[in-house]
Amino acid sequence: MIRRYRVGNPMNTEAVVQELPFETGDLPGWQMDPESRTLSRDMSGDTVVYGLGETVRGINKRGWLYISNCTDDPNHTEDKHSLYASQNFLLITEKGQCTGLFIDTPGKVTFDIGYTKHDRLVVTLEDFDADLYRIDAETPRQVVSELRRLTGKSYLPPKWALGFGQSRWSYLTADEVREVARQYRLAGIPLDSIYLDIDYMDHYKDFTVNEEAFPDFPGFVAEMKKEGIHLVPIIDAGVKIEEGYPVYEEGVQNGYFCRKENGEYLTAAVWPGKVHFPDFLNEDARKWFGDWYAFLLDQGIEGFWNDMNEPAIFYTEDHLKEVFEQLDGMKGKNLDLSAYSEFQELTGTVSNNPEDYRRFYHNFHGEKVRHDKVHNLYGYYMTRAAGEAFARLCPDKQILMFSRASYIGMHRYGGVWTGDNKSWWSHVLLNLQQMPALNMCGFLFSGADIGGFGADATEDLLIRWLQLGIFMPLFRDHSAMGTRRQELYRFDRIPAFRSLIRLRYALIPYLYEELQKAAETDGMLIAPLAFDYPEDSRCAEIEDQLLVGPDLMIAPVWQQNKKGRMVYLPEAMKLLRFRSPGDYTEEILEAGDHYIPYGLDEAVFFLRKGGTLKLADFRDEEEICSTLDLENRGVRIISF
Ligand code: GLC
Repeated sequence: MIRRYRVGNPMNTEAVVQELPFETGDLPGWQMDPESRTLSRDMSGDTVVYGLGETVRGINKRGWLYISNCTDDPNHTEDKHSLYASQNFLLITEKGQCTGLFIDTPGKVTFDIGYTKHDRLVVTLEDFDADLYRIDAETPRQVVSELRRLTGKSYLPPKWALGFGQSRWSYLTADEVREVARQYRLAGIPLDSIYLDIDYMDHYKDFTVNEEAFPDFPGFVAEMKKEGIHLVPIIDAGVKIEEGYPVYEEGVQNGYFCRKENGEYLTAAVWPGKVHFPDFLNEDARKWFGDWYAFLLDQGIEGFWNDMNEPAIFYTEDHLKEVFEQLDGMKGKNLDLSAYSEFQELTGTVSNNPEDYRRFYHNFHGEKVRHDKVHNLYGYYMTRAAGEAFARLCPDKQILMFSRASYIGMHRYGGVWTGDNKSWWSHVLLNLQQMPALNMCGFLFSGADIGGFGADATEDLLIRWLQLGIFMPLFRDHSAMGTRRQELYRFDRIPAFRSLIRLRYALIPYLYEELQKAAETDGMLIAPLAFDYPEDSRCAEIEDQLLVGPDLMIAPVWQQNKKGRMVYLPEAMKLLRFRSPGDYTEEILEAGDHYIPYGLDEAVFFLRKGGTLKLADFRDEEEICSTLDLENRGVRIISF
């Protein structure tokens, strides 16, 4: 059952698709205080708080302060409060009861979940204007599906998007991309997509191609497709300011960019230097920007990733001017402790400065709205621009789409990737812990940069990460310019990588079917153990094992130099140990704690009681290059 309450006078975010009548009175179970702009409640010893989508820390969110404020911050450390996403949904279980709360408000929201006071949950809204949806159901899974009924069906990607993807920021030419494809084929490692980062563009301009580095782009796209490889270009939020550049010219002529108080367009800077931000919240601007995707669709492209859409701001022209003026005053001075701190504060806060988010406005439902009031919708509406355009331009085709920033509601138009993580062991765990929460919020098609985006990956880290990644819908190795190269063929253990990626392809019939079912039935692909074993109090504490679809449980190794790990089985399960898709062993294990050896060259996971695993049926000597090779193949069944 969903009940809708309202505080203040909220804007319509269009996160929900179902219009519900308002209840009167206070939100049951919560204390509401307009003065302090808070909703709060106690938590008992066994209260578990799930949800919030993509955040730092564990599956159980208790014990930290999370702030919904889409932020471009590449350091996803435990001390952070905000990442790229804002998904204001809490799912609370206690004493056999469960309840959900979706706080639909486009501005900043702070979730103090036992941070200030261990047993107190306090939600503070920057503006006390929100639609509050309280969901009561028998089970956590039912709460999740009620939320989805409210907010709409989840986006489903094309099947090829579940194949392996290779990405790197710095594939500078078509030949470099060809070489990546060639090396994968040589190594016998399947590959379905190569991602094109900003380097494919002409001077980082959206909807352009650098003709010198990528000549005859449609021909190149077709050539790769013949090999079973999709090219997936990035699109950034900011539009370069450049005379004669049609996206810029059209945006200016039609008034589609965000303006400042004085009516001028805001000038910010991102990769191309100075840009304007399209006003995705304005329906006409959204349609216009969406139509530009046709520039690449018409050249054979079938997938995109939307980036920098928090929006990330390197600097604004106005703020930079202020900074330089103040720095001028510091020139030649002896910078003592306080003056130096001032200097640091000045120079260290040029990017993503909160003041800058108050400098520009949107035309939202015909009203002039200051950006910070609707900040968390920006990435959502950019991706919506794309999703709505795909439905118009190619209604019969599924287009791959995922975004960096997000808000609930965006799950109807695309998935997410979790942004600029690092090649750290702790980020293998973070990837695992973010997935169930993303699923709860409707973002079924999601994943992290496997191997880590920033910092240098090692072979063992990459293998362990892939052993988790083979169960994640978005399965992409991506890394930053300047870091150690981490395409799989660059390491020694080619046979291990080959077997692992081939196993992923064998798992696609199961994964895609379950993803489809989850999208259709408003369910989850990836869930915490406690969702299916509510009676078993141990499960509420398990932070590094997951349920994948109804039949599988995974318990990946995420620590350096571990040759195995302790695994908790809430019931008897069948342990499956694969050395390749055709070479595996099975062992039935009783409920309880087990030490499970887990070699670098294998994939270990668990089939649940009554479970059935459908594997694509191919023999070890058969070549599998891409998802195309899975078509019309039979399935092999393993059951327990
Ligand atoms: C951002 C993205 C990253 C991309 C880079 C360059 O940092 O998160 O994935 O590689 O921009 O476009």
